[in-house]
Amino acid sequence: MQAPETFPNQDDEAGLQLNADGSLRHLLTLKGLDRTLLVQLLDDAQRFVSPIGEAAARSQSLAGRTVANLFFEPSTRTRASFDLAGKRLGADVLNLDVNTSSRKKGESILDMIYTLQAMRVDIMVVRDASVGVPAYIARHVSDYVSILNAGEADVSHPTQGLLDLLTIRQHKKRFDELTVTIVGDIAHSRVARSTAQGLHTLGVGELRLVSPPPLAPDPGEMPYACLLDNLDEGLRDADVVMALRIQRERIGSLDGIPGIDEYFANYGISRERMRIAAPDAIVMHPGPMNRGIEIESALADSPASVITQQVANGVAVRMAVLEHVSKSMTWQ
Ligand code: CP
Repeated sequence: MQAPETFPNQDDEAGLQLNADGSLRHLLTLKGLDRTLLVQLLDDAQRFVSPIGEAAARSQSLAGRTVANLFFEPSTRTRASFDLAGKRLGADVLNLDVNTSSRKKGESILDMIYTLQAMRVDIMVVRDASVGVPAYIARHVSDYVSILNAGEADVSHPTQGLLDLLTIRQHKKRFDELTVTIVGDIAHSRVARSTAQGLHTLGVGELRLVSPPPLAPDPGEMPYACLLDNLDEGLRDADVVMALRIQRERIGSLDGIPGIDEYFANYGISRERMRIAAPDAIVMHPGPMNRGIEIESALADSPASVITQQVANGVAVRMAVLEHVSKSMTWQ
């Protein structure tokens, strides 16, 4: 049995992901990506959004490329949308079942990566519960391989951040005039961190993060956000409201965290509670949802909800990111 692998959390991932010309070599984090690049990715993704009732957008821009999906944590939306995105761009897509892979026999993550690299995988999409894994892999792969972070512990989920930004932009004209409220388990949410980072870069007017005190982030972590523990304060006149589930898999002890009924009463968003928000407020949730805990089921299915649109935009964003990194690959 090998010693457990460690993934040094070096702080260079923002630089590691950029080519000399400022384009993306990898996508590891939204930190360090400037407004111009974010807007370009959103514009590119918008081109892949198909109106309901029309066939899904397709191209052959990744023909001859191979994408491998390596998910060491469960996923429905992200894995399925990277799979569809790759196929709709003409790539070969490998969905490796890591539970039946040789990692279970003690193979290191790097040996697994080198094995796939030898098979000429061009893009590896990685989700892992440990901090630093996507950047660790990115530091070790060959020049012709790109790494895309599909969810890293509680720190980063950049394509989710992009799809959230795209969804907001489809409904609201200007980020600088918006009040965006994210409610729930902020402390353990990679979605909150990436979406907040992207909103900050695009100059959001006001960002409110609402959570029970045990699920609040470190006060110094996102100095541009207003931290609240009162939901009504957070919802007042908000233009965009996003609910998050409690990330039980990342919480050691549930001590101090309200039970289900108390949680819904104090932090669950509902049609009634949304009356405090702006009349045209949209309701978001990255999924998976726990209906009746962080969000009333009827609100999730109401006209204010853009949750299924977020899912649809996930495919478009991942197509845009796959196409973007493939353009700077060293072999043409
Ligand atoms: N939002 C999100 O990451 O969902 P999955 O865990 O289903 O991929």
